Amino acid sequence: MNILILGSGGREHALAWKIAASPLATKVYCAPGNAGIAREAECVALDLTDHGSIVAFAKAKRVDFVVVGPEAPLCAGIVDDLEAAGIKSFGPTKWAARLEGSKGFAKDLCKAHNIPTAPYRRFKRAQEAKAYVAAKGAPIVVKADGLAGGKGVVVAASVAEAQTAIDAMFGGRLGAPAWEVVVEDFLSGEEASFFALCDGETVLPLASAQDHKRVGDGDTGPNTGGMGAYSPAPIMTPAMEARVMDEIVRPTVRALARMGAPYRGVLFAGLMITDQGPQLVEYNVRFGDPECQVLMLRLKSDLLPALLAARDGQLKNFDLRWTEEAALTVVMAAKGYPGTYEKGAAIGGLEAAAQVEGVEIFHAGTKADGDRVLAHGGRVLNICATGKTVREAQARAYQAVDRIQWPGGFCRRDIGWRAIAREQ
Ligand code: AMP
Ligand code: GLY
Repeated sequence: MNILILGSGGREHALAWKIAASPLATKVYCAPGNAGIAREAECVALDLTDHGSIVAFAKAKRVDFVVVGPEAPLCAGIVDDLEAAGIKSFGPTKWAARLEGSKGFAKDLCKAHNIPTAPYRRFKRAQEAKAYVAAKGAPIVVKADGLAGGKGVVVAASVAEAQTAIDAMFGGRLGAPAWEVVVEDFLSGEEASFFALCDGETVLPLASAQDHKRVGDGDTGPNTGGMGAYSPAPIMTPAMEARVMDEIVRPTVRALARMGAPYRGVLFAGLMITDQGPQLVEYNVRFGDPECQVLMLRLKSDLLPALLAARDGQLKNFDLRWTEEAALTVVMAAKGYPGTYEKGAAIGGLEAAAQVEGVEIFHAGTKADGDRVLAHGGRVLNICATGKTVREAQARAYQAVDRIQWPGGFCRRDIGWRAIAREQ
C-alpha cells in the first residue's frame, strides 16, 4: 500500500516509524514532515490547509490510505474531502471533529448523555460570563471555543483573573477573538490521557499516558503543547480504564453514531481522576503529542491494519498487543518556548544519543541542511526510551539527552516524577 501521513511533529515521526515498519506499507509519504521523518518516508512540501493539492497529490501517487496527525486539518474537513475523492483516510469527519473543535459542542454532548464532566455554562457575551464568574467564585476555568493551539484555557485562581481572561478571549488578545466562551467548575485530581480507536461503532481501548503540560520542573510556568510523557499512567488501573470506557468513551461514540455522525479515528480523552471518579476535561480527535510517541514505543502489533480496520468499520474482534514495559519521552525545546525562540542552530550528538540502550529519538521541529539537522520549531526533539520501570526509562532518556549538543535547547529534568514517586 502507498501511505500518506499528514503532519510534521514528533507524533507524525512516531506514526511514520511504526507505519514504515509494517509489511503492508510499500511506499510512505509525509507532508510536510521533518528531518527525522525523512528517514522513514519521502517528505513532500504540501500545504495542509490546501485540501485540493493534498487530494491531487494522493491521486497522482496512487495513495491508498491517508493518516492525518494534527487536529486542524481534521476540523477543516480533510477526511471529508479525501473520502469524497475516493481516498481512504484515517480520522474523523469535520462534523465529528467538533468534539475537539468546539468545547461547547463537547460539553453539551456530555450533558445530554450523563457523561461526567465539570458543570459549565456557554457565553456569547463577556458581561454575562463575568457576572457568572462573580457569582460562582474561584478557582474557575475559562475556555475559548474553537482551536486555540493550547492557549485557549485559563485556570483562574481568582475572580479577577477569570474576568481578565474572559475580556482577553473575546477581545482577541489570546489568539483570534472568541465567538463563545465556556466557563466551567475547577476539578481537582490527577490528570491522565486515555486513547481509544473507534470505527464508528466498536471502540478498542489503546493505552493510557500522562503528559507534562507546564514548561518548568515541578509543573511550574506557562502551559505548552507537552514537555514529556510516559505510558502507561499508573493511576489508570484496569478498573479505572473500565470506568472510563463505560462512563465516558463508549457513551460518546454511541451518541455520535445516533446523531448520524459515526466517529472513526482515535479518540483522546483528557481526564481528571477525582475522588468521585473520572471526569472528562476535554476530547481531542487525534493522537496526543508527545503521548503518541510513547504509545508507539509500547505497541508490539502492526499499527497499519488497526488504522485501516478503524476506517473500514472492522474493529470488532480486533486485538492489539502491548509491551508491559514503560515508555517515557523527554521533549527538547528551543530556549524561549512557549514564547519566542530562535531557529536555525545545528544540533549535534544525535547518533551517540540514539545508541543508549532502549532509546529512540523522534524529531519534531527539525529541518535537514545536507547532513546537518537544524532546530526549526518550538518543540524540536523527543528523546524516548523504554524500560522495565518508568525510573529505568527516565534514566535512559536523560542519558541520551546529555549526549545531545545543542546549547540553544532545554528540557525539563523531572519527566515521570509522579510515576517514579509511586514506584518507590
Ligand atoms: P484543555 O485544553 O481543555 O485540556 O485544558 C488545558 C489544561 O487546563 C488541562 O490539561 C488542565 O490542566 C486544565 N484544565 C482544563 N479544564 C479544567 C478544569 N475544569 N479543572 C481543572 N483544570 C482544568
Ligand atoms: N499533549 C497534549 C496534546 O497533544 O493535546
